[in-house]
Amino acid sequence: MKIERRPTTTPDRREADALLLAQTRSLLDGERDWLANLSQFTALVDEGMADLNWAGFYMARDRELVLGPFQGRVACVRIPFDRGVCGACATTRAVQIVPDVHAFPGHIACDSASRSELVLPVVREGRLLAVFDLDSPSEGRFDEADAACLEAMLAVLVDGTGWP
Ligand code: SME
Repeated sequence: MKIERRPTTTPDRREADALLLAQTRSLLDGERDWLANLSQFTALVDEGMADLNWAGFYMARDRELVLGPFQGRVACVRIPFDRGVCGACATTRAVQIVPDVHAFPGHIACDSASRSELVLPVVREGRLLAVFDLDSPSEGRFDEADAACLEAMLAVLVDGTGWP
């Protein structure tokens, strides 16, 4: 499958989002190995979205997040729920859009190149499965439209692709 890198700002951004969502469905269709699917998902996001330096999962394990499949530089392996942007997402179960990571108290800098961050909760039937974390080297890279696109993509991943 040819994945076009998605521009950050174009007049037809909604079309690009729709394409990425369709590619998610197509990529995961028929495969029930959840680890393979999570890995493919991170690669699709990395290839399909512009201006990222990290994209991946932190899996919810008790009151701690543990590094899962990702694309990018080596990262911290364990994040307690009360630490960082990922921890804030896990605790509140709310999408975190951070335009400037230096202005976020307690931000954990895994890659010093990161300037902005988006973290989404992955929840099924009331249970937090993971958070999905994206970093960008550009300030203010993420907006509500990015969050909505990724929420729809994650819904495909959570529903019927073998994730226990
Ligand atoms: N910045 C995150 C830590 C994970 S890395 O960005 C990959 C945080 O503050 O939770």
